[in-house]
Amino acid sequence: MSKSEHGEVSTPRLSVRAQREIWKPYRDAALGLRNYWYPVCFAADLADGRPKPLQVMGERLLLRRVGERICALEDRCAHRRVSLSHRERVGAGRMECHTEDTITCWYHGFTYSFLSGKLVSNISWPTCPLVGELSIKTYEVRQAQGLVFVWMGDEEPGPLEHDVPPGFLDADLVIAGRVRVVPANWRWGVENGFDSTHVYLHRNSVLFNESRTFIPLALVPKNLSGAGANLITDGGRMGISEDLATAYDPVFAAEVGEPGGERVQLAVNPRTDEGFVPSVPEISIWLPGMLGVRNFPVAGLTVYEHYVPLDERSHYYFQLLGKRCATPREADDFREEVRSKWESFLMDGFNGDDVIAREAMEEAYTRGGGWLEETLTAQDLCIYEWRNLVSRHARGIARAPVPGAGEKV
Ligand code: FES
Ligand code: FE2
Repeated sequence: MSKSEHGEVSTPRLSVRAQREIWKPYRDAALGLRNYWYPVCFAADLADGRPKPLQVMGERLLLRRVGERICALEDRCAHRRVSLSHRERVGAGRMECHTEDTITCWYHGFTYSFLSGKLVSNISWPTCPLVGELSIKTYEVRQAQGLVFVWMGDEEPGPLEHDVPPGFLDADLVIAGRVRVVPANWRWGVENGFDSTHVYLHRNSVLFNESRTFIPLALVPKNLSGAGANLITDGGRMGISEDLATAYDPVFAAEVGEPGGERVQLAVNPRTDEGFVPSVPEISIWLPGMLGVRNFPVAGLTVYEHYVPLDERSHYYFQLLGKRCATPREADDFREEVRSKWESFLMDGFNGDDVIAREAMEEAYTRGGGWLEETLTAQDLCIYEWRNLVSRHARGIARAPVPGAGEKV
């Protein structure tokens, strides 16, 4: 890489302008990547048998448990295209489920099967000839690791293991965590999570007192040309892995301005504070946008984060922790540890700073001139790698809807 006159980075082969051209698919992917499995909720959220309305990639969905099966239905009536959950979402009544596997539209009574999407009855015209003929869209669903995954695509679903990090579906890996909505585009979720440079933001996090670890003030890629980038094409799975311990130089203190000026350092002093161990994990990112952070917040645990597009302005932020457990007792203890400790120190405290950063990026890339005026430097290697990965290898992209053209593009 070399620095342009504006301080931006370009590879020896590509100008900044060419780089931006290469990233056009990524810039267009406001609603995410098509033809992937996405986690949309936890299976436990559907235990009561009531339909759960969700928006994924701008599409309205209804998820519901019917017996052992979890079904996903388009949340739009075929008649006038209103959302079947609309009245409930505005607090005007509950969704009308007269049987355990149907939903009836609140407007004129069209009734659909959750299993097939078919119109099984039209209450306002009992002899309607469209009964049995008309249907709304159903989505393929898989359950794994306590999560419900939905296939968001136009092609036939591929294997789920291609769309999650390696080992994520292993039988001895126990996953615990939660999901929240963050008011920022999904790309700011990924770019925040996979950004090796933002250790600065976290330098004095409350997490480190609890985990008895510390992270450097900064991490600088040893090889600024990006030659160490580790693109993994593992069957149908694609991702990038960065070993922060070996491929980066840590910085523990810096001076601002002239030598002898203001000194910036960590709250933990790694030389004098007893019992704190450095945490420099291996981070990886996988299409369609799932982060893995091994040995974080402590050795033996892995952070998994999935950034699922809700619409152009927000994403579901799955905050998950994984641990390999040999017995059910160990698994229960781990779930309790997540609830009692990591939810507050990691998911609220540490990741609370990430959420603020993503909200700021949303503002920056919608009103602050972001795409055209950003200045990426050599330290932003991870961002280059991720944007290249999506632009070159994503199965499909989902653009923002064209105003006036309806929801679908
Ligand atoms: Fe649903 Fe008419 S809009 S039945
Ligand atoms: Fe972070």
